[in-house]
Amino acid sequence: MTVQTKNMIATFNFTVPTTVKFGCDISKEIGEITKGLGVEKVLCIYDEGIKSSGISNQIIEHLIQEELKVVTFEKVTANPTDSIVAEAAGFARENEIEAIIAIGGGSSIDCAKAVNILLTNPGSIHQYEGRGVVKNQTKPLIAVPTTAGTGSEVTSVTVVTDSKKLRKMVIGGQHCGATIALVDPLLTVGLPPAVTAGTGMDALTHAIEAYISKGASVMTDINALKAIELISGSIYESTVNGTNIDARSNMLLGSLIAGVAFDSAGLGLVHAISHPISSHCGVPHGTANAILLPHVLAFNGGDERVRQRMRDVASSMGLPIHSIDDQEIVKSIVEKVTDLNHKVNIPRLREAGVKKENFTTIAEDALKERSMNFTPRKATKEDIIAILENAY
Ligand SMILES: NC(=O)c1ccc[n+]([C@@H]2O[C@H](COP(=O)([O-])OP(=O)(O)OC[C@H]3O[C@@H](n4cnc5c(N)ncnc54)[C@H](O)[C@@H]3O)[C@@H](O)[C@H]2O)c1
Ligand SMILES: [Zn+2]
Repeated sequence: MTVQTKNMIATFNFTVPTTVKFGCDISKEIGEITKGLGVEKVLCIYDEGIKSSGISNQIIEHLIQEELKVVTFEKVTANPTDSIVAEAAGFARENEIEAIIAIGGGSSIDCAKAVNILLTNPGSIHQYEGRGVVKNQTKPLIAVPTTAGTGSEVTSVTVVTDSKKLRKMVIGGQHCGATIALVDPLLTVGLPPAVTAGTGMDALTHAIEAYISKGASVMTDINALKAIELISGSIYESTVNGTNIDARSNMLLGSLIAGVAFDSAGLGLVHAISHPISSHCGVPHGTANAILLPHVLAFNGGDERVRQRMRDVASSMGLPIHSIDDQEIVKSIVEKVTDLNHKVNIPRLREAGVKKENFTTIAEDALKERSMNFTPRKATKEDIIAILENAY
């Protein structure tokens, strides 16, 4: 693995707000770990899918064994909305809970992070959009991820959909992350193939966007490149053979360190376009990113600085890089990602339910996304519409 220092920005900020405990069966320690925080009553937040997988019951049992009082909020929705967050926060206040346990994918973890903000900061979640707006210390939050995708267990942001404006608000900074992440690959074994594929491609997108981001630094690069290696090497196997623990571990570690990378480096054009696609057309976050990734990489390859960075991306994916020019390298990455998408059954944009008449709104909203500040090649509305046409 090479860590390229050419064109690296000279100053950087790097934070990991969360204590990470990683390993098979580590989630069984949740009772003792929670008890160790000195709390007695906790709120577990998750969705229906997690309940029917049996994972939430296992976690709750471990908590009860330690004589903790447990209340549950089971109504998290995909791309969680302001109204679900408000409802869950009201429930948490009524029950006077002292800590939160988030069990699930990014939707459950983000919902829990937003609820936690509202327990100690007044008003509605809309007031806290942006970075650094949350001022008051939040309660302890333990995140137990069950998808190898978002990295939300370790990032300092939560993404909440504004249900009136149909757009995703990103709320981040101090007090917004989880206190502890219990990252257990065994919890991802039952993840269905389509979710494994979509969430895994989300993690790959995080790693690549972080590596080519204008906010990249050596601290984020080492995590991003290792994540690219782990995820590109295991996404196919974990999708078709979900019980392969090595593949599941690689994916969960990859998504975790991709989260570490992008939390400080920022994301890019894929996420800027995928957020309005999810808000307007209901496409799952990971699937939307997977569909866009090869087309945005081809677009970004038009910039010389990005092409240089792509050499390291290709190397981490195990692609040949010697005696090959930069244009060819970009082409080989685009082909590799397209091939991965094909093998794990990622649909095209039209098959995912996006209509051509949505393109203008998606492109206009994408230009307002925070990720546009980090994307290495400036994109216009016309460029974004061309990318959507290519992905259609
Ligand atoms: N905060 C961040 O840093 C960050 C980063 C990227 C994305 N996000 C957000 O995360 C959300 C997407 O999260 P996601 O992609 O993890 O999907 P998700 O949380 O919506 O879960 C997808 C589906 O998989 C099911 N599922 C999850 N784990 C399972 C398991 N182990 N077994 C069986 N079923 C399981 C869930 O019940 C759900 O139906 C989006 O709202 C996105 O904006 C947040
Ligand atoms: Zn993402």
